[in-house]
Amino acid sequence: MYSALTHLDCSRCGRRFDASQVQGTCECGSPLLARYDTERVAALISPSELADRPADLWRYHELLPVGEAGHVVSLGEGMTPLLAMSSLGGDLGVPRLLMKDEGLIPTGTFKARGAAVGVSRAAELGVTGVAMPTNGNAGAAWALYAARAGLSSLIVMPVDAPEITRAECAAAGAELYLVDGLIGDAGRLVGAAIPARTGYQDTSTLKEPYRLEGKKTMGIEIAEQLGWRFPDVIVYPTGGGVGIIGIYKALLELRELGWVSGDLPRLVAVQAAGCAPIVTAFASGARQSEPWPDPKTVAFGITVPKALGDFLVLDSLYATSGTAIAVEDDALLADQRAVARLEGCFICPEGAACFTAVRRLREAGWLSGRELVVVLNTGSGLKYPGTVPVRARVEVPVLATSDSIPPQQVPREHGA
Ligand SMILES: Cc1ncc(COP(=O)(O)O)c(C=O)c1O
Ligand SMILES: [Zn+2]
Repeated sequence: MYSALTHLDCSRCGRRFDASQVQGTCECGSPLLARYDTERVAALISPSELADRPADLWRYHELLPVGEAGHVVSLGEGMTPLLAMSSLGGDLGVPRLLMKDEGLIPTGTFKARGAAVGVSRAAELGVTGVAMPTNGNAGAAWALYAARAGLSSLIVMPVDAPEITRAECAAAGAELYLVDGLIGDAGRLVGAAIPARTGYQDTSTLKEPYRLEGKKTMGIEIAEQLGWRFPDVIVYPTGGGVGIIGIYKALLELRELGWVSGDLPRLVAVQAAGCAPIVTAFASGARQSEPWPDPKTVAFGITVPKALGDFLVLDSLYATSGTAIAVEDDALLADQRAVARLEGCFICPEGAACFTAVRRLREAGWLSGRELVVVLNTGSGLKYPGTVPVRARVEVPVLATSDSIPPQQVPREHGA
């Protein structure tokens, strides 16, 4: 048995769907969740047996939807490092701080996980083209995995999305459009184009069920890397919410399998102050969010004014006694540099927002400083070169060939 997938359930009304057919959302408009025969998986394998498998996300293939090993489309994604952040942790008053670094995955962001699993399963079910709106990184990942699978891709992104992601789509041979608007506008254009195309599937966030399955592997890996234990807190930069919903799904499946016991980690959804619909909804105890007017942040991946899965994100926060917090761009940009200076990691602004959130939660006493805290850095800083401007003659001197370099300076204190 390669996959223990049995069926799909509607996440809102519970209606059951056939997983052997291409599926979108439920008639009630909500995302579908993949279900597995966990009893059978638990009877067949134990977590210790996984240790001998290759160090990629396909080591959890029983808990993924792809039916046959031969249908896996892979670029070697998964098993990203879980790094101790001791210097920064000391600075923040959270000494047991870890970072799972998704900047080291193919395409440079965690989006590779959803793309690998989503594209593999789509191709397995006979889809010949994937179509999606994106804030950039997901489109780049799906375009590249689609290229590897021999599928066509139609990608629409805001004109303000990170430029490198355009280049990735173009290089991969995607049919690429930029829209003078936001991800929701891109989504409407994609939705209108699909009915006229044969073989294409709408792979928008949570409008197909398997991207989520790829992203849930972040949660399984965290548990495995901690010796099949949960941390106390997981901090995640939340846009469309697929990552945090996927991690929560993984935690529940691991408990159901009996592979991990004990309390679930408290989940923290981090957003930018310039686009914080989940934070606002959480603060009022709401079960879903209201569209955020005029969203704006340098953390472009989390510029999602209204997420289809907002109620699932909020459920995961309430169910784990978690929280939601918004941080300003100047603070997250300062922490992006702090992480590089103190830990040697050049992370993306979305990941940096999570460290600012840890700082604030510690100051507010929500974190005591004794917890084991895992921050997800969802991508490499290399995808956002503009966030650390280093212009010749402005931020950095340019020497004439006849100039000399100034004398050695006293090294800065660690943390200064
Ligand atoms: C780097 C980065 N981090 C976080 C996110 C948010 O992802 P999610 O849909 O899982 O909330 C995105 C989405 O574009 C992203 O590109
Ligand atoms: Zn439904």
